[in-house]
Amino acid sequence: MKKLIEEIVARCSALINGCSSSQKLDDVRVRFLGKNGEFTGILRGMKDVPPAEKPIIGKLINEARASLENFLKAKESELAKAELERRLASEKIDITLSNDTEIGSVHPLTLVKNEIVDIFIGLGFSVQDGPEIETDFFNFQALGIPLDHPARDMQDSLYVSEKLLLRTQTSTMQARTMLSTKPPIRIVCPGKVYRADDDASHSPLFNQVEGLVVDKNVSLSQLKGTLEMFAQRFFGKETKVRFRPSYFPFTEPSVEVDCTCSVCGGKGCRLCKGTGWIEVLGAGVVNPVVFENCGIDPKVYSGYAFGFGVDRMAMIKYGIPDIRLLYENDVRFLKQYK
Ligand code: DAH
Repeated sequence: MKKLIEEIVARCSALINGCSSSQKLDDVRVRFLGKNGEFTGILRGMKDVPPAEKPIIGKLINEARASLENFLKAKESELAKAELERRLASEKIDITLSNDTEIGSVHPLTLVKNEIVDIFIGLGFSVQDGPEIETDFFNFQALGIPLDHPARDMQDSLYVSEKLLLRTQTSTMQARTMLSTKPPIRIVCPGKVYRADDDASHSPLFNQVEGLVVDKNVSLSQLKGTLEMFAQRFFGKETKVRFRPSYFPFTEPSVEVDCTCSVCGGKGCRLCKGTGWIEVLGAGVVNPVVFENCGIDPKVYSGYAFGFGVDRMAMIKYGIPDIRLLYENDVRFLKQYK
């Protein structure tokens, strides 16, 4: 019996030693220590052992079983450790690999609008917002453009109903502000405007910034000083500004404002078509008719106003040749302006 036990222990140990996976180890366990295993078989043979030897053989069997179980346990943890190491090696994550997620950026129009607004805030202006669907009154009539006025042809309007239209200009904010706020007024109004127009330099939707100052003794020279300061901050310190006579129904006198070309500095290049100057915005002294329409006494107050296209400013600043590029949302174009 003793020999048989030693023989089984030796065979089982050899098999445990040779196991290369937990699965195989489990098979060995079942084969020797399972319900019908070889070792269990010996226990059944105990009934034939003479009573005097029973305690000795019983002790031997228990010790042999305990040592096999210990051996199995040790091999099991050795295999589990090896398996873990294999997995760690094969499933390695290389955290130094670059991550291709792209970070978004601000749209160039927003970038330019923010820059323009920031400059005017620095000059003491505050920012006003207003509706894009507007009444004929605020878009035209309050600004000195009655129903049959030929100036309506200057802007191709998009009507929503007989009396409502998509605002064609942020000048609407002049009347809205004057009717709701007492002077002194010093505001800029950035926003979207709409016109039935579509080519390389016109988009049916574009962006403007309107400016309005109303106070006692406001003059054309203050307008020029303010716009000069703005242009120098936006285009560069050397920028000069010139006024050309123009016509807008809501200003008198009206001017077209040019800046020296930011590319050639005034010498003449392709951007400025050889003139050295770039037309940037419309402006003027507030027409007394507008004051009267908005309940402000033109004998006490005077003012100036200006309005320009944000798109145009972005195109000049970044040399963008076609306004439609700003609305196509081509990521290759947009990501240049990070
Ligand atoms: N609203 C004009 C336009 O869209 C621009 C403009 C010109 C605004 C003169 C003004 C101004 O405030 O005084 O063409």
